[in-house]
Amino acid sequence: MFKAAVLTVSDRSFREERPDTGGPLVAELLEAGGYEVVRQDIVPDEQPEIEAMLKAIADSGEVQLLVTTGGTGFAPRDVTPEATLAVCDRLTPGIPEAMRYASLQITPRAMLSRAQAGIRKGTLIINLPGSPKAAKENLEAVLPALSHGLEMLSGKPADCAKLAD
Ligand code: MTE
Repeated sequence: MFKAAVLTVSDRSFREERPDTGGPLVAELLEAGGYEVVRQDIVPDEQPEIEAMLKAIADSGEVQLLVTTGGTGFAPRDVTPEATLAVCDRLTPGIPEAMRYASLQITPRAMLSRAQAGIRKGTLIINLPGSPKAAKENLEAVLPALSHGLEMLSGKPADCAKLAD
């Protein structure tokens, strides 16, 4: 079973002015998808703090998957994609492409998500938008394909020719 972490990026949730509903929902969806969620954290929309937390989680080697929610839009303080790009060794553009492709069937506003995804060491980092509805729709678009990528990332022999999904 792969282990996962969820990171909520939100000034208001960090300051406890608004309960974090997106993070727990993402954790629930990951658990239902067969992941063990071993940690959930909240950081404010501050690029250095987001980067530090992404690095700490990925470098701990504790999780294979790290999902963020929030801070992917156009507001001046939306900097989760920049923090993600700064800490990743390799980008995985197909994941945000798939999320936006699926989400555009639901709302044209899907194009406003600047979400990124990439790999730092042995951890795949994926950004999701902040609203629980958007986070759910985006995660569901990619979740079925992720375990195959994580198997390859962990060095396990993975047969790409085998039709699993
Ligand atoms: N994707 C899906 N599937 N459903 C949505 O409702 N909302 C969009 C977009 N992606 C949405 C979506 C909107 S309105 C914005 S502003 C961006 O995600 C970024 O959201 P964030 O700033 O909360 O990260």
